[in-house]
Amino acid sequence: MPRKLAAGNWKMNGLRANLTELIKLEEKHADADVDILICPPATLIDRCQDTPFDIGGQDCHAAIGGAHTGDLSADMLADAGASYVLTGHSERRTDHGETDEMIAAKTQAAYDAGLIAVICIGETLAEREGGTTLDVIDTQLAGSIPDEADNENTVIAYEPVWAIGTGKVPTLDQIAEVHGHIRARLQQRFSDANEMRIIYGGSVKPSNAAEIFSVANVDGALVGGASLKAADFSPIITALENA
Ligand code: 13P
Repeated sequence: MPRKLAAGNWKMNGLRANLTELIKLEEKHADADVDILICPPATLIDRCQDTPFDIGGQDCHAAIGGAHTGDLSADMLADAGASYVLTGHSERRTDHGETDEMIAAKTQAAYDAGLIAVICIGETLAEREGGTTLDVIDTQLAGSIPDEADNENTVIAYEPVWAIGTGKVPTLDQIAEVHGHIRARLQQRFSDANEMRIIYGGSVKPSNAAEIFSVANVDGALVGGASLKAADFSPIITALENA
């Protein structure tokens, strides 16, 4: 069984004052027996170094450096104290037109910098309703995971776009189907696929976390809104520890 992962993606939220939420989390979860990852805005990465949690960036550029105003390289994130980075989040795919090819290049840059990449995939509502979910997942998996991926440098996050920030969650059968499908595809390509973590994201809350974590091949969660407050993220972490 892979070690479970509770990951919080703060997105474009969080000022220095919000770091008190991490202090509250630390009081309860400093010695958790699951991995805890916080992906704050990059401005806060350096200030998170005193927490016992893993810290991640939310995106990186594919290049090591150069004339890319406003971007951050994977090396810079590592230098600031990150050990993980999200790649291919649907908000990056939508807001910045990121393609699978770009995501594969960013993920490779993450590996080169010694970061663990959390590669995000997931279908839109139109794709779900059109019955093409598994085809979309196949295309994203094939296009965005570099050949160097293994269970130590890669986590796959399944985040149905229509479940992100909407309060809508797939049924447990739907989650089981997609996570099982991802596991099977990883097994076709990677010898250590059974050890690769596949985490679910999209409207995970204290009230639904335990049932989501009971689903086969769900090795944790990537949590947006409910990761911003310790009072919400803490029971999600506890549910994962008890799963
Ligand atoms: P919410 O938990 O706010 O739905 O966001 C999920 C997400 O996009 C995490 O990356």
